Amino acid sequence: MQTFKDLQALRTCIAEWRDKKERIAFVPTMGNLHAGHFSLIALARQHADKVVASVFVNPTQFGPNEDFDRYPRTPVDDARGLVEAGCDALWMPDVAQMYPFGVEATVKVSVPGVTEVLDGAHRPGHFDGVATVVSRLFNQVQPHTAVFGRKDYQQLAVIRYLVRDLAFPIEIVGAPTARAPDGLALSSRNQYLDEAQRALAPTLYESLQAVARSVASGGDIDAAEQEGLRQLRALGFDPDYLVVRTPALTAPESHDTRLVALVAARLGKTRLIDNLEFDRT
Ligand code: PAJ
Repeated sequence: MQTFKDLQALRTCIAEWRDKKERIAFVPTMGNLHAGHFSLIALARQHADKVVASVFVNPTQFGPNEDFDRYPRTPVDDARGLVEAGCDALWMPDVAQMYPFGVEATVKVSVPGVTEVLDGAHRPGHFDGVATVVSRLFNQVQPHTAVFGRKDYQQLAVIRYLVRDLAFPIEIVGAPTARAPDGLALSSRNQYLDEAQRALAPTLYESLQAVARSVASGGDIDAAEQEGLRQLRALGFDPDYLVVRTPALTAPESHDTRLVALVAARLGKTRLIDNLEFDRT
């Protein structure tokens, strides 16, 4: 695997691959890689001849009171894991390469609508930061395909909107959520949990399963959401939301059959998110 810290060197490599008509798949990350990320690399491999991953902890998507400074940075382990996963190139820009005019003076990409609800409402500016950095990463890497996890369901919806609206010639692939054996969605933030919190954390997914079961069998959505929230609070979670939406994240109408339950909740200081797609008849 080749590791690039310089944009010109990355571009030269990408240009050579493109000259040879090789398909390039791209997996953007913020590092501290786990089995969830590596499953994206494996999926990317199925779509391309060459797989490029990026590791960049993006300052513009963290709020002022969020965990940018303490976000876990493990570049040596990340590179080793990517080699094992069969990645061909690693793009590791620094902040100056990513934001040549500085973070405050950057051109911002702002996505309307889908960014304004759920996590967008609870984390103002977060998805604009994601859209801003992903636009740059797409221009830097110029992939044919990019793979994003369905674990970050709303992020994937934002990326699909961005790609369509700005006409990026990139196919977006959504990857299934990788989970621990007890059901907890893998996340770099899980390591912030203490032992008792970690033992409790899988109940977040169980709450989604309970809501999905209830709504799939004809139950009232509002009642299922309220019951799920009540149970999460009783267990010691501090939920931001637990909702059932359409895949476009709008409120479901009675004729909508494809649905998704989404949750965000804090356990101590750690904010966890998860979702579950399901059908009702
Ligand atoms: P990060 O949180 O590092 O996630 C990188 C990619 O891995 C995202 O597409 C995310 O959805 C996916 N991912 C994380 N946990 C997963 C799991 N358990 N199963 C499947 N996929 C999982 O998301 C970001 O970084 C950033 O916002 C980024 C898109 C890189 C922009 O900075």
